[in-house]
Amino acid sequence: MTTLDLIGSSPKFRAVLTDVDRIAPVDSAVLIQGETGTGKEVIARAIHEASPRRHQRFVALNCAAIPSALLESELFGHERGAFTGACTQTKGRFQLADGGTLFLDEIGDMPLELQPKLLRALQEREFERLGSGQTVRVNVRVVAATNQDLGQLVSKKLFRADLFYRLNVIPICLPPLRERVQDIPLLTEFFVAKFAASLNKPIDLIPDDVMAVLKAHDWPGNIRELQNFIERAVLFSPGSVLRLPLDLKPTVKQRSESVSRTLADADREHILETLQQADWLIGGQGGAADRLGLPRTTLIYKMRKLGIEVRRSPRARPVRQYEQCRAAASC
Ligand SMILES: Nc1ncnc2c1ncn2[C@@H]1O[C@H](COP(=O)(O)OP(=O)(O)OP(=O)(O)O)[C@@H](O)[C@H]1O
Ligand SMILES: [Mg+2]
Repeated sequence: MTTLDLIGSSPKFRAVLTDVDRIAPVDSAVLIQGETGTGKEVIARAIHEASPRRHQRFVALNCAAIPSALLESELFGHERGAFTGACTQTKGRFQLADGGTLFLDEIGDMPLELQPKLLRALQEREFERLGSGQTVRVNVRVVAATNQDLGQLVSKKLFRADLFYRLNVIPICLPPLRERVQDIPLLTEFFVAKFAASLNKPIDLIPDDVMAVLKAHDWPGNIRELQNFIERAVLFSPGSVLRLPLDLKPTVKQRSESVSRTLADADREHILETLQQADWLIGGQGGAADRLGLPRTTLIYKMRKLGIEVRRSPRARPVRQYEQCRAAASC
């Protein structure tokens, strides 16, 4: 189907792959929902790779990572002089993805005021660059993803209903890893082989008791968390037998009451747990961003959004140095 590494054989994951094959040939918009680290971007790429658009570009834009004032220009481009600092005419992501696929990640963070223009681009396949009256026509397939409950955002009037229905033509829900435990051995073997090769640390055996602990864990950060964990395990295994680092609490699956738990709750719990493991250090090696496999700025953004305060880490640099870094970073 694709050249991407898509590991999993559980019925729930196979059903997702069947959907990917079924929807790849058409141009309808796709909305991928799922907790953090469940593979939303991987599936978006798989749809593109399996589609007739695969020889054209796959252009990704993380709506949460771009300040809202710049997002319109990022999406639709601008004319020279459209705003202070617009020195040249610039194409937006829609135009760059012409003929291919545009992946709009974290679509729940699309500012409300920009949503009508996005809706028109989706429906009419046309838009104007900022500062231009000339209409640009494009042929783009849009795949959007979010770990927020878009339906709930719609009912709170934080997301337009018409845009939600336009994006949700083909919904794909990625199950969390705890609901596809059957995939854990396959994913573990895959990641062990990958990191054994890249870290040059041959691992010949994954003992049954190790696999049992991995299968019993809850994995709130899903495949990304498992992947980062296996990387650490391979690195710290003393010989060629996989050993687990001590920081994996063999959590009991206590999710039966959690049907009402939102995706944001799952994110918050996972980020808090990782921050605690990292002594509240956000950046740097072994910091929470590193452990989560996220850029530092993305983690800070997520923390703000989820109402998690930034605490001073006992492992942080002395205050004066820290303040200097902050001043330098904000320049
Ligand atoms: N089925 C899979 N097989 C192998 N690796 C996978 C699979 N799904 C996800 N991964 C890996 O897990 C990591 C997280 O995947 P991805 O970035 O697609 O998740 P996401 O749902 O977009 O996460 P977030 O919501 O945090 O952006 C990536 O490194 C990806 O390569
Ligand atoms: Mg993603």
